Amino acid sequence: MRPRIKHVGYFITFEGVEGCGKTTQIKLLSEFLSTHGMRTVLTREPGGCPIADKIRTILLDAENRALSPLAELMLYAAARAQHVTEIISPALESGEIVLCDRFCDATVAYQSFGRGIDRSIIDTLNDHACHGVSPDLTVLVDCDPRVGLERARRRIELSSGPREERFELEELAFHQRVRAGYLQLATDDSTRFLIINGTDSIDEIFATISTQVLARIPEALRAVC
Ligand SMILES: Nc1ncnc2c1ncn2[C@@H]1O[C@H](COP(=O)(O)OP(=O)(O)O)[C@@H](O)[C@H]1O
Ligand SMILES: [Mg+2]
Repeated sequence: MRPRIKHVGYFITFEGVEGCGKTTQIKLLSEFLSTHGMRTVLTREPGGCPIADKIRTILLDAENRALSPLAELMLYAAARAQHVTEIISPALESGEIVLCDRFCDATVAYQSFGRGIDRSIIDTLNDHACHGVSPDLTVLVDCDPRVGLERARRRIELSSGPREERFELEELAFHQRVRAGYLQLATDDSTRFLIINGTDSIDEIFATISTQVLARIPEALRAVC
């Protein structure tokens, strides 16, 4: 493993199964931190920059049922390498708070725990793609995949954008392995992870996340709150 690069900014990632509420909560947190005068960058994976967004389209398109697990893994790594180089690293070097909707842990949870790819291949690819960058804090929004999938399906039905549902169409057992994988990662690295109950209301979850995150952001990056 390459050594972790120290950055002046603060890197927060959000993780969890489909529909647990990551995008809802990360947007609320981004608005909250910006309103309190903190310099934040809100981004997401797969994607986050034009080239990686093109890879996102391939990865989430439900028509791509034939995508092999290894090809899928490498596309995630390619998108991440571009995203880290172009967006995440420069922002962290200039002292910003970077909020990223999914990152490396998702690849471990989905491609290793979910699909069964050897963990060492995933760790190696993640290591190369990240260029020494790793999250300071990871918010795991934990919920039963049955609850999350129901919410995600409703959101997809109501949205007019592209149907990004290749993962939503996976069987329940797959999502249960992903959830178990996330909980295992959180147990293995309990100082980095903050586990939140995703079945509470949006307001209750946000109250917990905003308080806990604010307490962890280094003093030097915190504006007047
Ligand atoms: N705590 C919650 N309770 C009820 N509905 C929620 C909650 N959090 C999010 N939702 C709704 O569920 C759907 C999925 O949420 P989203 O934030 O997109 O999940 P994710 O990004 O984790 O897939 C959205 O329509 C959102 O409004
Ligand atoms: Mg989302």
